[in-house]
Amino acid sequence: MTTTARYVHAFGPAALTRFYDPGIRLLMREEAFRSRLLLHMQLAPGQRVLDVGCGTGTLAVLAQQRHPGVEVHAVDGDDKVLAIARDKAARAGAAVRFERAMAWALPYPDGTFDRVVSSLMFHHLIADDKRRAAQEILRVLRPGGALLLADVGAPRGAPGRAIAWALRPFERLRENLADRLPAVLTGAGFSDVAEIDRISTALMPIAYLQGRKPGG
Ligand SMILES: C[S@@+](CC[C@H](N)C(=O)[O-])C[C@H]1O[C@@H](n2cnc3c(N)ncnc32)[C@H](O)[C@@H]1O
Repeated sequence: MTTTARYVHAFGPAALTRFYDPGIRLLMREEAFRSRLLLHMQLAPGQRVLDVGCGTGTLAVLAQQRHPGVEVHAVDGDDKVLAIARDKAARAGAAVRFERAMAWALPYPDGTFDRVVSSLMFHHLIADDKRRAAQEILRVLRPGGALLLADVGAPRGAPGRAIAWALRPFERLRENLADRLPAVLTGAGFSDVAEIDRISTALMPIAYLQGRKPGG
């Protein structure tokens, strides 16, 4: 598999990947951001969970440490960020199963996972790729399984809306800033799609969206 000109690495250019963890700590209220992700994932022993676009693996490692009875899998399209993630998991003694994969070609059979989580990855994808990633995530969820997506949300206040207006030429952010991610999930076949939480950060608001695979 090759990455293409369409591919956006963790911190934009590949050369900045090694600054991703300190950057996120500085800009993202990381502790609150990740704790809420874990809370909303509602993990329980015996479940199998997948983190799509896991980056440096911080969330996957935390999930495995806090929920040792859960089988945690994580994928990312970038070998270099996966090397950081694998090293982090090894140092933490967390048995996360990492694979290199694109979000629209997940290497798992239909219905494998009880939960899928994806944080800060969807704004790296152009609109068509958001749609096929959502369809692929639906495929690997079991009926009744849940997706938790945390990504750049549509700003609510006037200053944020002005920034969103200025950013509208950036295609990867367009669906996020126009509040169209829920429609992307519904269009892919998810049910009960809702924004269940949001936090503000130094950069943009982050919305937590949930959706279910019908059935189960
Ligand atoms: C901003 S980082 C977020 C990492 C992590 N989820 C987090 O919360 O810190 C986005 C990640 O998505 C990955 N990514 C971008 N496009 C992807 C794609 N099409 N398939 C899989 N991973 C992708 C990048 O390599 C990067 O590691």
